[in-house]
Amino acid sequence: MEVNILKEKLLKELVLVKDNDSLVKLKKQYLGRKGKLNSLFQELKNLPPEERKKRGQELNEFKNFLEKEFKKKETEIKESSGSLKNDWLDITAPGRKASIASFHPLTQTIRTVCEIFNSMGFSTELGPEIESEYYNFDALNIPKDHPAREMWDTFWLWQEGFDKEKNRSPKERFLLRTHTSPVQIRYMEKEQPPLRIIAPGKCFRREATDPSHDFELYQLEGLMVDQNINVSHLKGVIEAFLRLFFGKSVEVRFRPSYFPFTEPSFEVDFKCLRCQGRGCSLCKESGWLEMMGAGMVHPKVFEAVGYNNKKWQGFAFGLGLDRLTMMKFGIPDIRLLRNSDLRVLRQF
Ligand code: DAH
Repeated sequence: MEVNILKEKLLKELVLVKDNDSLVKLKKQYLGRKGKLNSLFQELKNLPPEERKKRGQELNEFKNFLEKEFKKKETEIKESSGSLKNDWLDITAPGRKASIASFHPLTQTIRTVCEIFNSMGFSTELGPEIESEYYNFDALNIPKDHPAREMWDTFWLWQEGFDKEKNRSPKERFLLRTHTSPVQIRYMEKEQPPLRIIAPGKCFRREATDPSHDFELYQLEGLMVDQNINVSHLKGVIEAFLRLFFGKSVEVRFRPSYFPFTEPSFEVDFKCLRCQGRGCSLCKESGWLEMMGAGMVHPKVFEAVGYNNKKWQGFAFGLGLDRLTMMKFGIPDIRLLRNSDLRVLRQF
């Protein structure tokens, strides 16, 4: 049969094809191994050479035509059987809720707290989590064998007896920092007063865990050094911070305490926001919640960083960020802040 007639025949047949099965069948009739095209190619060898070439070109052109038409139909069937025609849309169905990630409650607290202090002129500084004995202890007026070292159960990364270099200096003996106070030293070593900094970060204590203690904790260190600084500046800054953080005035109380790097030293509490100081389970019936250690920077600390301790005074504080986060978000157990349980985290 002549190629042109075959073409017309195919086009008519294609119009009738509605589904993939009949398309495959028809395709086989034309392009299959025993199909029409192949049998035309078979006949080529019977032709004289001059005609063979012309016929060959004609058949190749026919082949392209067939492939193009089948392809076209294939797409047509796919589109009409796909989502557009057979699918239907229930416009009354409730929408699917997009799951949007959020920041971890601790991250939210750290960001808010830093923003508040930044707005009061404190710049944010960071220090290493792997710290040396010198910065974590000695420079903070806690020399070796000082009983105050017992206040911080330490994860040492170095141990006498297990280490070949017995005579390492405190700057070469490493540990996981037990507080953010070493950042004070690192900063004062390279900058001159007056200064105002905060330093948020992770700290580690070799302790058993319970609902309010973990071996990993977050602190925010604060340090302000200037002339004529006294405890009332410390109190003013802390009250201003709490007002901005909780959105209302919060009463604070200073209790005498002891830290080797401050004199005098305080434990700072704020009035329980849940019971307004009347006493509840959260504040263990005391009406107050412990929030931070603080005090006036010890002259020995200024000495360690080369500041003139006659000229400069300063206050410092170490704020517990886990406690603050638990208060703000109503989280009852510190360990919930660590285990990455999405059932917990999705609530914030
Ligand atoms: N570093 C202390 C701790 O972790 C907390 C602290 C107390 C920090 C007094 C200070 C401070 O800056 O002045 O227990």
